[in-house]
Amino acid sequence: MTDINNLVRENVRKLKPYSCARDEFKGSTGIFLDANENPYGKLNRYPDPWQKDLKKAISRFRGIPVKNIFLGNGSDEIIDLCFRVFCQPGTDKALTFSPTYGMYEVSASVNDVELIKVPLNQSFQIDIQKVTPLLSERNLKLIFICSPNNPTGNSMNIADIEFILSGCNSIVVIDEAYIDFSDKPSFRDMINKYPNLIVMQTFSKAFGLASVRVGVAFANKDIIQYFNKIKPPYNISANNQKLAYRKILRADKMDRQIKKILTEKNKLVSELSEIGLTEHVYPSDANFLLVKVKDADKVYSELIKMKIITRNRNTVVKDCIRITVGKQSENRKLLHALKTISL
Ligand SMILES: Cc1ncc(COP(=O)(O)O)c(C=O)c1O
Repeated sequence: MTDINNLVRENVRKLKPYSCARDEFKGSTGIFLDANENPYGKLNRYPDPWQKDLKKAISRFRGIPVKNIFLGNGSDEIIDLCFRVFCQPGTDKALTFSPTYGMYEVSASVNDVELIKVPLNQSFQIDIQKVTPLLSERNLKLIFICSPNNPTGNSMNIADIEFILSGCNSIVVIDEAYIDFSDKPSFRDMINKYPNLIVMQTFSKAFGLASVRVGVAFANKDIIQYFNKIKPPYNISANNQKLAYRKILRADKMDRQIKKILTEKNKLVSELSEIGLTEHVYPSDANFLLVKVKDADKVYSELIKMKIITRNRNTVVKDCIRITVGKQSENRKLLHALKTISL
């Protein structure tokens, strides 16, 4: 069984974390003269560094104990923290399955970590034969599996993910940013079975709070404690904690929005397939579609001229654009615009 402490950078294991004013006095009443705050105003106090109320709400909503939850300034902060906790710059390695979400590579570069990119197979699934010999690669500390995957939209096979989780000596991060749009199960309930597992989710997608920047990691408590040890003390603002907390209380509204988005997605799939310039609409478990067209650069730029902005993924998956499912009226306009493009 993986001993998490052996995967952590020695300097992180040894470092003494910053102790902020709110760590030293935890009460909520009194005259606060301890944090060099301005005594006037309504936003003058530092936020709760441990986001206790929000974590309790997430814990109830997702059925995972508070001690197994970490919150980041978006998942992007959590990705960076993974590198900083586990990867020795210049020595350690990480692995991703390409094409996938671009921030794993950016964070690897920022942290001077070599990234091994294993191409997904033709169905955009993990190529187990290709990855198996790499699992025993020296100094491989992190493996990122994005499921549902951005930009392909599909979920990875559960058996392949479990094969990797049980067959490696690395931390496996499953990025489930789009899981609420999918009917596949989350891996978050597996954190007790796999001590090397981190499951990332976010308030940016189904919760509709991309501007608020709250990402969630579920993992065993040792991993969570290392994240807590090195995070900036007040990484989630008080307003953002409140906004995310309120969203959880209104999860029924999120469910209704997800249903609407999925209905619109199904309509888009069938209507896009009817359009002449569409070559293929890839199956998607997310709120976006990867669409192969006759000439992605041209389609993308023609859409831009009509003020419809999609994502040109031509350099990542040949002749593909990625289309986020919008409101019904927006999707109508997109379809109408696509029909006017002649190649
Ligand atoms: C797979 C994936 N993970 C993470 C993120 C970023 O999430 P956050 O907004 O929580 O930083 C994105 C954003 O597009 C994404 O596609």
